[in-house]
Amino acid sequence: MPSFTVLVNGRSHTVDVAADTPLLWVLRDSIGLTGTKFGCGMGQCGACTVHLDGKAVRSCMTPITAASGRKVTTIEGLATEHGHRLQQAWVEEDVPQCGYCQSGQIMSAAALLAAHPKPTDDDIDRAMSGNICRCGTYSRIRSAIHRASQEV
Ligand code: FES
Ligand code: FES
Repeated sequence: MPSFTVLVNGRSHTVDVAADTPLLWVLRDSIGLTGTKFGCGMGQCGACTVHLDGKAVRSCMTPITAASGRKVTTIEGLATEHGHRLQQAWVEEDVPQCGYCQSGQIMSAAALLAAHPKPTDDDIDRAMSGNICRCGTYSRIRSAIHRASQEV
């Protein structure tokens, strides 16, 4: 089994997995970070969203070979300025219902705010369109992103 090294939330991890192993399973099974969720496994739902070198990616569709040697941030490591502000806003807007999709939602929102600190509704809808919420929390997600952006 080949070895791969990834920097996850500032810590280096070396894992021995098959080259086509998705980053999602490395995070969850090899490293034990279960905040990143498995939804569809096909890049369609956004539940598995993490940051790779600061960009939002679907970890279910990202082989470990593509993440090797790069910087990964998961929901557990999002205590950046933006992440913290978003997480507060999520609580204040009472966003989650079942919660399953929410780590992926927040990771997409954090990437959006990093690129567009004052997003419009259209910016938000575009950036968040790949994140599905079966509980229909979309309007509160939008409010929470606006709330977080006002605190910049
Ligand atoms: S689990 Fe990755 S996009 Fe659905
Ligand atoms: S809060 Fe339940 S799927 Fe989004």
